[in-house]
Amino acid sequence: MCDFSSLGLADWLVKQCKQMGINKPTPVQEHCMPPILEGRDCMGCAKTGSGKTAAFVLPVVQKLSEDPYGIFCLVLTPTRELAYQIAEQFRVFGKPLGLKDCIVVGGMDMVSQALELSKQPHVVVATPGRLADHIRSSNTFSMSRIQFLIMDEADRLLEQGCTDFTKDLETILAILPAKRQTLLFSATLTDTLHDLKSIAMNRPFFWESKSDTRTVEELDQRYILTPEKVKDAYLVHLIQKFTDEHDDWSIIIFVNTCKDCQILTMMMREFNFPTISLHSMMKQKQRFANLAMFKASVFKLLIATDVASRGLDIPTVQVVINHNTPGLPKIYIHRVGRTARAGRNGVSITLVTQYDIHLVQSIEAENKTKLKEYPVVEKDVLKILTQVNVTRRQCEIKLESTDFDEKKETNKRKQLILEGKDPDLEAKRKAELEKIRSQKKKFKQNIHETIEKQKRGQLKKKIMKRKQKKKAGQTSV
Ligand SMILES: Nc1ncnc2c1ncn2[C@@H]1O[C@H](COP(=O)(O)OP(=O)(O)OP(=O)(O)O)[C@@H](O)[C@H]1O
Ligand SMILES: [Mg+2]
Repeated sequence: MCDFSSLGLADWLVKQCKQMGINKPTPVQEHCMPPILEGRDCMGCAKTGSGKTAAFVLPVVQKLSEDPYGIFCLVLTPTRELAYQIAEQFRVFGKPLGLKDCIVVGGMDMVSQALELSKQPHVVVATPGRLADHIRSSNTFSMSRIQFLIMDEADRLLEQGCTDFTKDLETILAILPAKRQTLLFSATLTDTLHDLKSIAMNRPFFWESKSDTRTVEELDQRYILTPEKVKDAYLVHLIQKFTDEHDDWSIIIFVNTCKDCQILTMMMREFNFPTISLHSMMKQKQRFANLAMFKASVFKLLIATDVASRGLDIPTVQVVINHNTPGLPKIYIHRVGRTARAGRNGVSITLVTQYDIHLVQSIEAENKTKLKEYPVVEKDVLKILTQVNVTRRQCEIKLESTDFDEKKETNKRKQLILEGKDPDLEAKRKAELEKIRSQKKKFKQNIHETIEKQKRGQLKKKIMKRKQKKKAGQTSV
């Protein structure tokens, strides 16, 4: 049987693992740790909750113990909360070494981060945007000697989604030494494999867990088909049922937008569910505080946008509900992967409207899984329908009276300024574009109307001619 020692891990680290209740390596650890310890680049693709973090943290801590200096390792990750979680793992495993870490993420004080960076910590865990800002604005630290570059959730870092990290990554990669080990991990690496290979060039070792499905077996995947207007009633019904039946369960509800997140949180509180939210329009300190309270089970219900969909490891989460059907199978994999982790069981329920059926079909096809219907007594849902919809409307009105939309606008302006654009100029450009678009639309409409008019005219003429012919025929008879 494979154990950590036989993989080349030092005794003190094996002991450290044992103290954390980690006795036997998971497959991704078994396969990826030896090549990393050998000095090779590594790309590891394994399911959610399968222990990828320890698969890269343990070898790095071991290598660091052999030749300790700062800055030894840089970890990049797409979200701030995940950066804290990874740094904590380094801190725990590296405790006997006195490992010093530094977390560099947006939304936190930049000056104190710069100070920390200048103290040459062993490990820097960062989100790309803020680290790139530091590189552009100061020269108080050097990463020219780092031995390890790790990208956790590597596919997210390299894809061009709503947050595009490309420019920041270019800035970061430019100051890193070419001679280094690059480690890339995610549950969904395969789509971006081509881009990843250009980053990990040192004889990369690629390991992917072989499995029929892309989600874990312990996860019971369900769906509920519901009209859009009844969706919230189903949600309230489900939460009521779970909270009635289980004391120790935590539930995450994923939603599409920050506004939806805010409204649903207000709504759930109206129904007296202990609810907390997490989305990108909240102040960072509040985000950390909310997540900490959810982890500590002070609040049993977390309503979040996709900012919480990747990497977060919260053992108490038994249920994940998708309030909207994810547009991409990949997003679905990460969201539902917040439960059924490390061999535990879990349930995911996706609320599907008539417009989302094709999305479910592509999720099923790509992930090679079939979602089963979740049985609900419809009569019970209809009983609360009016009350739920009235409550939603009340919450919407309440939110409209706050400056939520204004804040969104301010955030957008801030983002544009950070991207080096003039918000007023952009707004003008947008308005002009809109004007051109509406002119085009009008023009098209006019043409369409003229054609229709012509057609109608021709038709009228034809009918008239036919009538005249008929008349002429009748008189000649
Ligand atoms: N060898 C092991 N034995 C038992 N538990 C483990 C082992 N390795 C890691 N774990 C635990 O498994 C849980 C999930 O690990 P981790 O967060 O690293 O998963 P992951 O593969 O990174 O998932 P995701 O794709 O969602 O980020 C953690 O709580 C971790 O402590
Ligand atoms: Mg992870």
